[in-house]
Amino acid sequence: MRTPTRPQKSLNDLDLSAWDTYDDIITDSLWLLGKRLQGDGHSADYWGNFVPQIPYQAMRRFTKRGELVIDPFVGLGTTLIEAARLGRAAIGIDLQPHCVEQTRQRLTQAHQAPEAPVEVLLGDSTHPSTRARVHALMQQWGYDCAHLLILHPPYHDIIRFSDAPEDLSNAPDEKAFLAAFERVVQNFAPLLAQERFLVLVIGDKYTRGEWIPLGFYCMERVLQNGFKLKSICVKDIQENRGKRGQYSLWRYRALKHHFYVFKHEYVMFFQKR
Ligand SMILES: C[S@@+](CC[C@H](N)C(=O)[O-])C[C@H]1O[C@@H](n2cnc3c(N)ncnc32)[C@H](O)[C@@H]1O
Repeated sequence: MRTPTRPQKSLNDLDLSAWDTYDDIITDSLWLLGKRLQGDGHSADYWGNFVPQIPYQAMRRFTKRGELVIDPFVGLGTTLIEAARLGRAAIGIDLQPHCVEQTRQRLTQAHQAPEAPVEVLLGDSTHPSTRARVHALMQQWGYDCAHLLILHPPYHDIIRFSDAPEDLSNAPDEKAFLAAFERVVQNFAPLLAQERFLVLVIGDKYTRGEWIPLGFYCMERVLQNGFKLKSICVKDIQENRGKRGQYSLWRYRALKHHFYVFKHEYVMFFQKR
């Protein structure tokens, strides 16, 4: 006799009776994405933005049309542009006024009349007052919870995004960086509905000849705050602006100093317990 299976609540709009038609949806843990998608308001001119394929994959798998996505490190708004394209509501936060302004401009250029509301706020995502503002906006829009959190923090000090002391990229050491990252998780996790997903996009770093597994350290912090791990995906890194045209030099350094050149970062998926 077959054990009856508990009916699963659907987290997306995918029709499983047509599961073999979704060629664009990734189900493997190795993400060889190649070049970033351009157009639709996206561009590669922010040092440190992620490729639109990441929020696209996360939203298609873990949200339905009309549901709400929050991105507390929104940068130049890649998540928000994808959300508007996919008919998801979204709130992004960034510490830097120029990020907020440019994200607004990009959104209006790319999507004149989005199907669901999309907004970007200036604020410090570690601070409870920022969560309160996000919550107030959610209530104004009629949402009592969010359906997906996308976190793409600085990879500690690899890129310094601003001079602000609240900027995670200015944390004086890894301990302080992880504490600030955890405050962001603790700040926004209460807004997420149960059983919904948090996506963490993060890479590791090298300091004084030592590989610092920032990705796994951040993973631990998420796990300690009411989430279970669902997947760790490894994504290829294409030449970034910092290393463009210098591959031979990095290869030489790697051989000389006994390390491997970073060619991957992580896209980790967690589910709220
Ligand atoms: C890796 S970037 C995110 C890029 C984004 N995914 C995109 O595609 O444009 C990290 C962002 O976090 C922002 N940031 C750092 N600390 C912050 C904080 N405490 N509160 C809000 N934003 C912060 C930085 O200004 C930067 O824009």
